[in-house]
Amino acid sequence: MIITLVGGGSTFTPGIVKSIALRREELDVTEVRLFDIDKERQDKVAVVVDWLLHEDLKCDIKLTVTTDPETAYTDAAFIFAQMRVGKYAMREKDEKIPLRHGCVGQETCGCGGMAYGMRTIFPMMQVIDDAEKYAKPDHWILNYSNPASIVSEACRRLRPNARIINICDMPIAIIDMVAAAMGIKNKKEIVYDYYGLNHFGWFTSIKHNGKEILPALREYIMEHEILLPDTYMKDKAALAANTSKGNRHAKGSWYYVWKGVYEIMQNFPDTLPNTYLNYYLQQKEFVEHSDPNHTRANEVMETREKNLFEGIDRYLETGKIEENVFYAGSHGDWIADLAVALKNDTKTRFLVITENRGALPNIPYDAMVEVPAYVGKDGPEVIAQNTIPLFQQGLMMQQLNCEKLLVEGCIEGSYEKVLQAFTLNKTVPSMKVAKEVLDDMIEANKDFWPELK
Ligand code: G6P
Ligand code: MN
Repeated sequence: MIITLVGGGSTFTPGIVKSIALRREELDVTEVRLFDIDKERQDKVAVVVDWLLHEDLKCDIKLTVTTDPETAYTDAAFIFAQMRVGKYAMREKDEKIPLRHGCVGQETCGCGGMAYGMRTIFPMMQVIDDAEKYAKPDHWILNYSNPASIVSEACRRLRPNARIINICDMPIAIIDMVAAAMGIKNKKEIVYDYYGLNHFGWFTSIKHNGKEILPALREYIMEHEILLPDTYMKDKAALAANTSKGNRHAKGSWYYVWKGVYEIMQNFPDTLPNTYLNYYLQQKEFVEHSDPNHTRANEVMETREKNLFEGIDRYLETGKIEENVFYAGSHGDWIADLAVALKNDTKTRFLVITENRGALPNIPYDAMVEVPAYVGKDGPEVIAQNTIPLFQQGLMMQQLNCEKLLVEGCIEGSYEKVLQAFTLNKTVPSMKVAKEVLDDMIEANKDFWPELK
């Protein structure tokens, strides 16, 4: 059983491989393949993956490291796709260009997310085509390449029969925080309902062992004025220091979105919002507290990335790997759990990004939505949700049409449609600003984007 990681040079690769290796019995995995177009970067990450598999965990799993698609995909059963087109250097531009124009600067939301989407659509189709050509006929692509909403809409449009499941770990990370805040040790005892688009949704119910805990959680958030567990808040220095230790979602500028959950719930207390909604509901405030010269991309390059690559260099010199060189967390665990569910037909409940087909009654049939589903060998069986209230539905429709226009504009090479997408996005104050940001983005992305006419 072969698992291929696309984007093998990612800082997340060692953590994900660790999660796979810890489930080697359930997955029956015999080989892990790393595939990337950046050989130098991937070769470095592979050093620590090799150490992890063969020295640390002493597994009998073969490791193959390649830049050749045929070698990467041949007979693979699972393809975990986590590519970042343009790497952190382009993430930095996605974040900084909109800020220069007074708009939210974020890797997956607003103009930055749209720019990133336009870089990723076609490389993602290449992954699907190569998998189709070389991998096992019943392969699954588990895709968490961002921006997942835009990428999954492009998959639906361009490769409707692809064996791909699009997913995101943010709701999982939120549930991790909820569990820690509420003192729940085993988060597998938590079952929740959720509706939305990717990075744009709401929890309507969170149950622990069958008991609704949303009211108690609301009380916690109101009392603490943030959705972060006490343990994190006590160590304010650690939060600010943004080191590689501990939960990465509690570090650096992530602080603001956990604070923002409180701010949103002060006004709209019925549901627990996805942290990303802050960029759309508090766009002005986010611009105000952002530093246009130092964004999350810089934080990541100065911590997770630096830590990993320097740690690998030191290992090559000294033969010793220090603790916390690489980031491992629920991100990798949950993706490996999803593979276990598909392989062993467990019908475990996950959130997936999938074509609506009536699951959300007042959202278009063909929207790519994020909803709970039971996952077994044939893929997700979606759990329908209730009619969405007008406020949330209105927000979703604006975002949905924005993303659909962007994907259409990208496929057709239409400047007008892409400009409409930028103009429609809730983080953008006017058509004129939309055009200014778009024109700067075209310049910055000229090596990546299709030509817009
Ligand atoms: C969450 C989101 C991902 C996103 C990541 C960024 O996990 O679900 O889609 O890429 O955060 O985290 P970072 O530490 O790179 O800012
Ligand atoms: Mn995500």
